[in-house]
Amino acid sequence: MKLAPADRLIVALDVKGLEEAAGLVEVLAPVGVRHFKVGLGLFTSAGPAAVEAVHRLGGRVFLDLKFHDIPSTVGRAVAAASRLGVWMTNLHIQGGSSMMRQALHSVREEAARSKQGAPLLIGVTVLTSMAERDMADLGLRKTLKDQVLYLAKLAKSVGLNGIVASAQEARIVRWACGEEFLIVTPGIRLAGPEGLFPSPSPSKEDQSRTATASEAVKAGADYIVVGRPILQASNPAEAAQALVREMGAVS
Ligand code: C5P
Repeated sequence: MKLAPADRLIVALDVKGLEEAAGLVEVLAPVGVRHFKVGLGLFTSAGPAAVEAVHRLGGRVFLDLKFHDIPSTVGRAVAAASRLGVWMTNLHIQGGSSMMRQALHSVREEAARSKQGAPLLIGVTVLTSMAERDMADLGLRKTLKDQVLYLAKLAKSVGLNGIVASAQEARIVRWACGEEFLIVTPGIRLAGPEGLFPSPSPSKEDQSRTATASEAVKAGADYIVVGRPILQASNPAEAAQALVREMGAVS
């Protein structure tokens, strides 16, 4: 999708609590960051107040709770996410077609009831922390790329708006699922000078399928999700701006 480079960036608010999260939004929104991800840690600690704080400061929220449960439970969860007015939320494609259909039905029903737009529903394929060896470990026979592609096609056939996948699978998913299908890519690591945008120290690195922001966009990612390279930078606003410039150079 054709997007302004700044709109491609989703900053993961992977911090301990509400104050720290709001502080980051206050620093990043003025340099043009519009999209913020509220994930499991922040939502478990601060709840809907975290979403409301981002909204109050003018940002849009990707509520990344990766729902994976029986259809009725996931339906209630995404309906509640819709009521919070989030821009995007997600669920595990491995929860199955019935679960995804129920989720779509619930967000549409909620949107009709509230006369607000429905959040984008994005399917998680295979976590970017996982590597090829994890496929066999889980008893899966496909290669990692084939598994991502298989799940992406399933999500598209059901009607989800897009998927989460690494830059390594973005090209093939784009080719198979078309231009309108959204690809959201985490696992971004830095191309820039050491020190300004640190990656997690090697012992803390839990991502496997990583890429730079420009590699991800060139491969077909619409959005990149970036946590630690911004949060751990000495100047988070500068790090965010550098990532936007990097994407601007290739899109
Ligand atoms: O710190 P880092 O940039 O690795 O953070 C990536 C963020 O993207 C984390 O918040 C993680 O939960 C999220 N994410 C991911 N893989 C997915 C979906 C979300 O890494 N498949």
